[in-house]
Amino acid sequence: MNLKRIGILTSGGDCSGLNSVIRATFLAAKKLGYELLGFKRGLRGIAVSEPDYIVLNDEICDETLLTSAGSVINSDTRWMTDALKSGKTVSDMKMIIYNGYNALNLSGLICVGGDGSLRVLNELTSGNEDLQIVVIPKTIDNDVSSTDFAIGFQTAVKVVSDAIENVRSTAKSHERAMVIEVMGRDAGFIAMYAGIASGADVILVPEFKYDIEKVKDKVKSSLSSKKGYCLIVVAESVEEKNFSHEKVTVSGIVKYPHVNYKGIGQHISDLIMETGIDARAVVLGHIQRGGTTSVNDRLLGTMFGIEAVKLIDNNDCGKLLCYVGNNVISVKIEDVIKKNINKRLLHDDPYVKAAKCIGVYVGEV
Ligand code: F6P
Repeated sequence: MNLKRIGILTSGGDCSGLNSVIRATFLAAKKLGYELLGFKRGLRGIAVSEPDYIVLNDEICDETLLTSAGSVINSDTRWMTDALKSGKTVSDMKMIIYNGYNALNLSGLICVGGDGSLRVLNELTSGNEDLQIVVIPKTIDNDVSSTDFAIGFQTAVKVVSDAIENVRSTAKSHERAMVIEVMGRDAGFIAMYAGIASGADVILVPEFKYDIEKVKDKVKSSLSSKKGYCLIVVAESVEEKNFSHEKVTVSGIVKYPHVNYKGIGQHISDLIMETGIDARAVVLGHIQRGGTTSVNDRLLGTMFGIEAVKLIDNNDCGKLLCYVGNNVISVKIEDVIKKNINKRLLHDDPYVKAAKCIGVYVGEV
């Protein structure tokens, strides 16, 4: 038996669009005569002495995967941190993955992951040319460099925009300030895109510190204007200009930190209430990671899945797939790592400029 095989895993926080990638990968692999193994729970499925996987098939990979959020092969965070804590070294892990990959006779491994997964994979596969890896960027935060969009981001922006629409009626009826706290970790893409799309008056992002007095001024002017209410979109890790969050790791392992942010929306709402204006905070939380996959993520997932299989079939691996100006391209993972994996909103980002242009307060830019 000379069965050609490709592996796929989804790693890091889940999002909408992962299943679209899995379906397209399955269909493209099948067409080229490959069997597709879906490793369960990210790297945990392959970095074990007995790999845990399912053989993907037509029944699992039907059209419903195009729209369903989450991952049919599950996902996992902090695998590396846990493995290091348990006493394994990086070379132990390299060996285990390499053995699993070989034993299963894989031609390549597709990892759908974010910046953290990219770093971990680079570390585990560097110096081992036999491990053929292709990474597909996914993260609602959209903070992976080199690509305009990562899987999950555009659905999250839609989910957040829809949620803000639901909050608007209360803000309007009660002539209140509503503070909507959104995810994004250290990047403000979700807040900026959804804030503009929803007509927010204030959009606070981690990249630009804010002045609370200017936030209050904006709230007062919105409430006293004909509009009569105010919408404030706040990314979870924003900072006041005279104050820095202590961005510490809770994992205890500095190399792969994972910080949990919470409470900034309520904090800003409390400060607004001090001025005598009625304010409420809404934390959108994990609803941003679910929802029917947007058309854009279905299309992007399909394009990425097909291209990943092509790269493996052409033996052109060690690559990160990127979506740039309506094209799917691939860049060497080591080059992305050298340059800087993390993408942030810049002062001259067209969306930042647009928000300022239409009178939104976006912090001290
Ligand atoms: O990175 C994606 C993300 O949803 C961030 O926006 C958020 O800070 C974090 O994951 C939440 O992680 P967890 O699901 O582990 O709480």
